[in-house]
Amino acid sequence: MSDWWKNAIGYQIYPRSFKDSNGDGIGDIKGIIEKLPYLEWLGVDFIWLNPIYASPNFDNGYDISDFRAVQPEFGTMADFKELLKKAHEKNIRIIMDLVINHTSNQHPWFIEAAKSKESPYRDYYLWENATKEKMPNEWQSFFGGSTWTYHDLTEQAYFHVFAPELPDLNWKNPQMRAEIKEMIQWWLDLGIDGFRLDAISHIQKAPWDFPISTNPWAPFMNVTGIEAYMTELKEIFDRYPIMTVGEASGVSSREAVDWTSEDGFLNMIFELEHNVRKGELGSERIDPLEMKKVLFRWQKDLDQKGWNALYVENHDNPRIVSILGDESEKSAKAIATMYILLKGTPFIYQGQEIGMTNYSFTSINQIDAKDTHHYYQTLLDQGYSSKQALKIATDWTRDHARTPMQWESDSSAGFSTGKPWMPINPNTKGLNVARQKESSASVLRYYRQLIQLRKTNSVFVEGSFDELLVDSPQVFAYLRTEKNRQVFVIVNMGAEEVTVKLPETMIAQVWQILIRNNESLMVKEQMQLEPFDAAAFETQLIEEKYKKEKQ
Ligand code: GLC
Ligand code: CA
Repeated sequence: MSDWWKNAIGYQIYPRSFKDSNGDGIGDIKGIIEKLPYLEWLGVDFIWLNPIYASPNFDNGYDISDFRAVQPEFGTMADFKELLKKAHEKNIRIIMDLVINHTSNQHPWFIEAAKSKESPYRDYYLWENATKEKMPNEWQSFFGGSTWTYHDLTEQAYFHVFAPELPDLNWKNPQMRAEIKEMIQWWLDLGIDGFRLDAISHIQKAPWDFPISTNPWAPFMNVTGIEAYMTELKEIFDRYPIMTVGEASGVSSREAVDWTSEDGFLNMIFELEHNVRKGELGSERIDPLEMKKVLFRWQKDLDQKGWNALYVENHDNPRIVSILGDESEKSAKAIATMYILLKGTPFIYQGQEIGMTNYSFTSINQIDAKDTHHYYQTLLDQGYSSKQALKIATDWTRDHARTPMQWESDSSAGFSTGKPWMPINPNTKGLNVARQKESSASVLRYYRQLIQLRKTNSVFVEGSFDELLVDSPQVFAYLRTEKNRQVFVIVNMGAEEVTVKLPETMIAQVWQILIRNNESLMVKEQMQLEPFDAAAFETQLIEEKYKKEKQ
């Protein structure tokens, strides 16, 4: 089936923090192979691997210095091929990260390009006349500071949307594009099952004189002209039975139709809008109502027209139970119920399935992420004390997602026999895979049950989406309907008890329980929900009624 990914469940692995097989404190490919039986038991259909390519590690693999080589810390190409083979034996597919907006500044192309203005590789990147004092424009980068870095030797500046160590490729250059496409083909011919396209909405840039108004990043977010490049990529993708998912910030839910419809550029994209924050700087949380509005808008705008990639965690964000839940097992289950039963392909980030929490960073030296260091420094420059700056800068740092996976209860978390590259959360003592595998009431078992539910009921793949209780600021409620089969999902995403009134048409139906995190939950006209209550019910609609509701 060419659209196998529609009823597949994805699992994202951040290799550095997943499982270390040789005691150097860094997760590796052999470690992933070791854990394949666990992933099979959990029920996942594919793995998205964060970058494993050769890299100087300024941005942990997102700065690639050789697209066709494996980072030695992670193992060898032979290890990778073994992973691919063993995963396929278990019917688990492998999706690779594809980073083609930029390379490392240590990539041979950039090293050559920087040698002189006449270098044949010069035009693979974006260079403009500049002086040390005056950059070509005022645009700001994602990691902080100008998007330009002055280069003394050739007296020009080069462009980067992230950091000077990650120079942007020049997509206008056909030779560069040809080399990238060849590389893509090379990986596909190796037998991988698809790509997650990193930062893909940034490959096209506005003219350099584009003025910045409200959004500093507008000149490189889904800029007109990107269609041509995406179409070229699609031509290659279409030749393989693969899955493609784009990290596409700046693509609106309406525009996402062009990206993810039957003849869209990709199969699906990640939206980057739903983490709407509220609260004081340093202790911000997700605003449930705003999150609900974003998620449900994407559901509606893509219903029957495109396809969603569903996620609540990844390697760039804090742990969801710490910023939306209350770190309890119950809240972890509530969040899982809320998003896994939506329409789209669900992704689970390593550790999310056991409810891993944020880490309490006590020193900036524990932080690896460069953007967090930059933010910390900016806060100090603004006059914050180092204590305040640490609290604010680490509140939402992506390093929360990068502490090692908690396999066991011992102080090494069963992650490594050596010194782990990132601190291990001490709560591994009680919060770990081994323990949760044994307990039928655990978050892990609940995830496994949800995954099975999704995979054995086509209503979750094919069913339409209808929102309920639109005005509730904390209750996420929706119906999924396929022919006469209907599923009702309801989740109280708040720490307060609440009573909601359900439509009469629903009360007249007989509902069966599919899953719930509180044994007393039933469909009633007045449903009383305790904090983080979650449930899904199903019913068979009688024909006329079904028609009436659909009008
Ligand atoms: C994406 C990745 C992020 C990385 C950046 C630069 O946003 O998810 O981790 O730092 O691209 O490649
Ligand atoms: Ca290792």
